[in-house]
Amino acid sequence: MTMTLVHDLKASAARLDRALADYLAETPLSGPGPAPERLVAAMRHGSLNGGKRLRPYLVETSAALFGISPHQATRTGLALEMVHCYSLIHDDLPAMDDDDLRRGQPTVHRAFDEATAILAGDALLTHAFAVLGDPATHPDPSIRIRLVAELAAGSGAGGMAGGQMLDILGESSPLTETEILSMQAMKTGALIRAAVRMGAMLGGASDRDLAALTAYAEAAGRAFQLADDILDVTASAEAMGKATGKDADQGKQTLVGILGLDAARLRLDAMVAEAIAALTPLGPNADRLRAIARYFAARET
Ligand code: IPE
Ligand code: IPE
Ligand code: MG
Ligand code: MG
Ligand code: MG
Repeated sequence: MTMTLVHDLKASAARLDRALADYLAETPLSGPGPAPERLVAAMRHGSLNGGKRLRPYLVETSAALFGISPHQATRTGLALEMVHCYSLIHDDLPAMDDDDLRRGQPTVHRAFDEATAILAGDALLTHAFAVLGDPATHPDPSIRIRLVAELAAGSGAGGMAGGQMLDILGESSPLTETEILSMQAMKTGALIRAAVRMGAMLGGASDRDLAALTAYAEAAGRAFQLADDILDVTASAEAMGKATGKDADQGKQTLVGILGLDAARLRLDAMVAEAIAALTPLGPNADRLRAIARYFAARET
């Protein structure tokens, strides 16, 4: 990873952390009644806890191609990160992956209880759409509507939630390589795809650019989950901030399980190359996105 990328990602993550902390400390959280303190505490625990903030960084980087400043893209990244954090809170529940550690801390159902974790996820998901609907996210309502539709597509039954369902179903019936790739494209790829596309939508990207960015995001998303599956085998819980060595035990179907570690690493390189190649129409302006795809595969956390 180049030093510029490290520096840039850090600045972006700090911006996101501030926006999230502000949002979760504010009165907009209230609906017709006041938000219960315990629920807000669980939402904070599950989201203000040191995530890498890669999806907001993708939003910013993609938006920057079209002249949008990082600051102007922060709220869109915030909405995406809220959905991502909700997905992790629910992913860790006993009924799903049953994990005790996330981002180096007890998971939300461990620090609170299961009902509170479910509700904290529900609330984060819901607030994400309130963030996108607010004129502060983009002055043009037609763009805000596109953002809402894109995040819904990335999160719903044909996206992340559907992919999580397939992941669970796969624990009890074997999947082919193609089925694993399509499950992962949904559970993980869909939000990464949404991140890149939402950034482009903020900047009013042309259809041609959006198509190139979508192909990039789909390949980068495949690489991201394959790297996660490799790290589950090769990395320590200390480095990852979450339990490792669990996928095989839990009967999770991964490309690492099917191909073995060496072939999986080669496949990972091919996915990164594919992501980078997809950016050709965008020229050197897209170098930061290329660096992100390389980082997805080279990361150690
Ligand atoms: C973890 O995502 C879940 C997967 C989709 C593999 P990240 O690795 O982006 O997790 P955080 O947000 O940095 O904790
Ligand atoms: C999670 O995949 C994907 C989500 C949509 C949350 P994993 O179950 O492999 O993620 P980790 O390893 O728990 O972070
Ligand atoms: Mg899972
Ligand atoms: Mg998991
Ligand atoms: Mg994993």
